Amino acid sequence: MPPRPLFVANWKMNGLHADGLARASALAGHAAGGDCGGDIVVCPPATLLFALRAVFAGSQIELGGQDCHATPEGAHTGDVSAPMLADAGCAYVIVGHSERRAGHGEADETVAGKAAAAHAAGLATIVCVGESAVDRDDGRALAVIGRQVERSLPDGSTTDNTAIAYEPVWAIGTGRTPAQADIEAAHAEVRAGWERRFSGSGAALRVLYGGSVTARNAGEIMAAPGVDGVLVGGASLSADAFWQICQACR
Ligand code: PGA
Repeated sequence: MPPRPLFVANWKMNGLHADGLARASALAGHAAGGDCGGDIVVCPPATLLFALRAVFAGSQIELGGQDCHATPEGAHTGDVSAPMLADAGCAYVIVGHSERRAGHGEADETVAGKAAAAHAAGLATIVCVGESAVDRDDGRALAVIGRQVERSLPDGSTTDNTAIAYEPVWAIGTGRTPAQADIEAAHAEVRAGWERRFSGSGAALRVLYGGSVTARNAGEIMAAPGVDGVLVGGASLSADAFWQICQACR
């Protein structure tokens, strides 16, 4: 049995109180119509977590953070800790997004520290990996992906508390997506990296694809072997488009 699909909305730094609430309410309305067949997680800006927790209460939609610090509390101005996310109603947190790796200088080891903190707080992690355009052009994509998987996962990671999102950096927000065969190969390498890291089967691991997923291409992407869900940025800013994407596992 393949793992239950996982659909993750990453709103990034988008959404003020009024429009965030409206978008969340519209999504909750869609979800009230029936189970889409997968798990749904919305990762809004941290400022909206408490408000959205009320909107999603009683629905199948879970909340997630977009990042967390590696320590539970302390003198870290501007950061959010994993216990704070759990306290705000989160069940998940994204770590190692390429916008954090590139924009905030996060190395694999930093990502692993954040993931360990998340697990300690009872959160499931969505750990992002993915090659740059240069890596792909130089024929290093799979090597980079495998190395990131091996180094970005802390001890104690399990297929229950961890999903891995394969997000080629060059596909994020660009409207470009890899060929199906390249997605399949990358996902196989993610699972292989998991198996090297933990000397155990990655069959139950949820491996998501992210990068320019839309309501139009989600069905084809979800049909690629080894794809257990998607991490959606831009298209998740429309409740209708994201809900259509959530139907892609049907
Ligand atoms: P995108 O972003 O869907 O806008 O390409 C995906 C992501 O960064 O997670």
